[in-house]
Amino acid sequence: MEPSDVQRGLEDVVALESRICFIDGQQGRLLYRGYDIRELASRSTFEEVAYLLWYSRLPSAGQLADLKRRMAELRVLPDALARTIDSLPSAALPMDVLRTAVSALALLEPEETKPGASSIGGAQRLTAVLPTILGWIQRRRSGARPVAARPDLSQAAYTLYALLDREPSELDARAMDVALILHADHELNASTFAARVTASTLSDLYSAITSAIGTLKGPLHGGANERVMELLAEIGTPDRAEEVVKAKLARHERIMGFGHRVYKVEDPRATILREWSRKVGEERGNLNDYALLRKVEEVVHREKGLYPNVDLYSGSVYSLLGIPHDLFTPLFASSRVAGWTAHVLEEYDDLRLIRPMAKYVGATDLTYVPIGGRT
Ligand code: SDX
Repeated sequence: MEPSDVQRGLEDVVALESRICFIDGQQGRLLYRGYDIRELASRSTFEEVAYLLWYSRLPSAGQLADLKRRMAELRVLPDALARTIDSLPSAALPMDVLRTAVSALALLEPEETKPGASSIGGAQRLTAVLPTILGWIQRRRSGARPVAARPDLSQAAYTLYALLDREPSELDARAMDVALILHADHELNASTFAARVTASTLSDLYSAITSAIGTLKGPLHGGANERVMELLAEIGTPDRAEEVVKAKLARHERIMGFGHRVYKVEDPRATILREWSRKVGEERGNLNDYALLRKVEEVVHREKGLYPNVDLYSGSVYSLLGIPHDLFTPLFASSRVAGWTAHVLEEYDDLRLIRPMAKYVGATDLTYVPIGGRT
């Protein structure tokens, strides 16, 4: 069968059917299992959304309490994994450490790594332990004490406690909870696609999540919010935004946090995170990043007609919460692991090896010349 015309980057290619996430790129709508992200962000919690992604329905109060109790138990970091992380170079990038940690964890928990054997239990384990791994990475650098499991804290509050070694305020915990909800899934983005390709070979859940972490690391995908903060540092003050951004655009550079393969209007997550950037900034009396971002938005939209995506404001919220910039993408992973695992389990339920074709444009029918006759 001749391959049809190449769709570079698989743009607009529909690769599979899914019941997990719906994106309307024209209207800027995002649904998780049929529920609008704006409603989930204002009324739900990350644990409730994770339950929804895994079980296809919102939990009852009892089911949610059971999930919270189970995930608190699953936060524990095995000593062998703590020692593995400590053996890695202190200058190693947190995303590389996270990828290595998940891969190493598979060797410590073989029950979840048999091909196709993975379950919601494995999904809960990974979603519960990632904040502890992030906390260990950060505390290793800051010399803080090991991370206590703190079953009294929600996933969002526990994430901040693990990273910052202090209990967060109610506002901070809610800001983190909303950020975790907003990052939990996003249909067939590159890292989710990588996870599904891995699962489609009947490889195991931990291998699929290791693939996803490696994919999310790229600045065109998960790494953009760190680079947004570098852009803000380069601009410095709102009056320089126009000059700096226009110079970058003139050099055909990408402005991180803008544009999207699917959204043709504003990413609804950016709308919500812009509001949280303002809210948390006001509470701290520091609206510098927010003011800069508003100005950058105005210039990029006027010059390129581009809209903000989820990465434009997430970094300013995390920065205000006191999170180091190189932990922004690992934080993204600690939320998206709920969506990644839901997609892996959906792939196992309706398995089809993912194997597209390439249109061959290289040489053909060349004559083999023995090495003695080659120049
Ligand atoms: C995420 O897929 C997902 O769902 C991902 C994600 C998720 O939740 O999983 O939403 C998370 O990855 C958000 C995106 C984070 N990345 C960035 O912010 C990096 C900057 N953005 C761009 O690199 C870009 O917009 C992409 C990668 C996001 C989308 O790229 P496309 O669809 O391949 O668009 P393109 O490269 O074909 O660009 C089309 C035009 C080009 O102009 P021309 O060369 O045709 O004149 O738009 C321009 C691009 O130069 N363009 C930009 C731009 N994004 C597109 N110009 C300047 N700055 C940008 N950010």
